[in-house]
Amino acid sequence: MSRPYVIDQMISAKSIAARIEALAHDIHAAFEGTDKLVVVGLLRGSFVFIADLVRELDLPVEVDFIEASSYGDGMESSREVRILKDLRGTIEGRDVLIVEDIVDTGHTLSHVTDYLRSRHPARLKTIALLDKPARREVDFRADWTGFEIPDAFVVGYGIDFAQRNRNLPYIGQVRFTDEA
Ligand code: IMP
Repeated sequence: MSRPYVIDQMISAKSIAARIEALAHDIHAAFEGTDKLVVVGLLRGSFVFIADLVRELDLPVEVDFIEASSYGDGMESSREVRILKDLRGTIEGRDVLIVEDIVDTGHTLSHVTDYLRSRHPARLKTIALLDKPARREVDFRADWTGFEIPDAFVVGYGIDFAQRNRNLPYIGQVRFTDEA
């Protein structure tokens, strides 16, 4: 049976929108002059972030998705990362931006980055909306981060808890109500 919980707002929809505008500005500067930027979203948690981010990018953009195994339906991260769904398009010689929801232990994004780098893209950069540096197990930092957050379990803005709460417009922290 699932435990009862409430969600406390941590980052408002307005703050997220403002931060994405600033990030898009930096990404634009980094990829200025590109003939095409392949924006790769990591399914499923990045789907809201990538939708808002690409609409702030005034660059020729292709959108693709990749899915890697992560938490299953629980709160525990797994160290073994497998590719469950690969890209549809080719990235050899192309500029690529990998878009992730959260860097937690770092295993997922570092694995996917190595995996895609082996296909010889021209430039490859990474962006994560959220970063939990306190949880890191591998030495990895995204090129751009939206917000650094403490070691808390968060939901909303595409991010789930057991496939729920992805549709919240803000980032909220899960708080179990059966705890003292
Ligand atoms: P990592 O491999 O440990 O860095 O985990 C990355 C993935 O774990 C993210 O893409 C999320 O899918 C998931 N994850 C990490 N922290 C949270 C959280 O607080 N809420 C929901 N999912 C999370």
